Amino acid sequence: MQLEMDNEENVTILAIESSCDETAASVVRNGRDVLSNIISSQIDLHTLYGGVVPEIASRKHIERINQVIAEALRSADKRLEEMDAVAVTYGPGLVGALLVGVSAAKAISFASGIPLIGVHHIEGHISANYIENKELEPPFVCLVVSGGHSHLVVVRDYGEYEILGRTRDDAAGEAFDKVARAIGLGYPGGPKIDKVSKEGNPEAIRFPRAKVEGSVYDFSFSGLKSAVLNYLNSCEMKGMEICQADVAASFQKAVVDVLVEHSMQAVEACGLRKFAIAGGVASNSALRSALQKACADKKIAFYHPSPVMCTDNAAMIGAAAYYEYCRGVRHGYDLNAVPNLKLGERA
Ligand code: KG4
Ligand code: ZN
Repeated sequence: MQLEMDNEENVTILAIESSCDETAASVVRNGRDVLSNIISSQIDLHTLYGGVVPEIASRKHIERINQVIAEALRSADKRLEEMDAVAVTYGPGLVGALLVGVSAAKAISFASGIPLIGVHHIEGHISANYIENKELEPPFVCLVVSGGHSHLVVVRDYGEYEILGRTRDDAAGEAFDKVARAIGLGYPGGPKIDKVSKEGNPEAIRFPRAKVEGSVYDFSFSGLKSAVLNYLNSCEMKGMEICQADVAASFQKAVVDVLVEHSMQAVEACGLRKFAIAGGVASNSALRSALQKACADKKIAFYHPSPVMCTDNAAMIGAAAYYEYCRGVRHGYDLNAVPNLKLGERA
């Protein structure tokens, strides 16, 4: 990584995201104005297999990426030469999927001479908050809950993160996906549990709210997942029919209660009155309304991207990239995909 301080005013960035099962490209100006946001989802393909098949994801990214990039430029009414940088997610994520985006961005940068910026996927999720909340600036506390991550983070400054807590086992989204599969809802689990829970009673079954010894901010969801599986097994053994909506709503309530409690503890302890959410699970309607209420009760300002900006997209990568650009971050052509890139770590 090369550092050269640069602080231009009108910075337009072409951003690319391919870390999992969405092929996405976006044009973003000054980190907050989205000129285009193209997302080509592979959900239908992976539904057949009950989850994301990495090899299929990589192949589909290869087939779609050029079209998606061209469409992002076209709908922003911009030419490539008008871009100040090309940004791309380089980790964490599926290695083959990441490599497609990274290779495309490097090729564009090499052919056009436009600077290359590698972006951390989770920094992207957090930065989605800047797009729809123009007034939001660090410091603030952020709950990041996606398919692969559950973190409580203090965003000290743009690009500066302090991790307060993380999951000890499954990520929140992973728990949603596994429980959805167990109760026969299939993939993608989170949105399906969200929907069916609206018909169920969240108090029907009392699932455990896990606490992690020694750390108030850490999460653990695998015990909850096992409790749901045990409940399903015991119903089967007793010949009892399960009510899918009640199980979904009760599971969702257990996750939401823990996320809300830990988040509010973190906000109070940090003495910051600003709280944001990020990642696919942040689009969950029960979580959003519970956090809205908890923040209103405690007079904490609550920031949340709209649901489509919570799940994977490239606009959030363009938002994060702008602040990297202003910090002077430029990557070389040796930029590689880093599947297990840690938050705060840089290539
Ligand atoms: O952030 P994301 O799109 O991709 C990753 O970076 O992982 O998050 C995907 C995860 C999946 O586990 C999905 O089931 C979950 O977010 N998710 C939801 C909802 N929408 C997506 N979980 C709960 N409720 C939702 N409405
Ligand atoms: Zn994501």
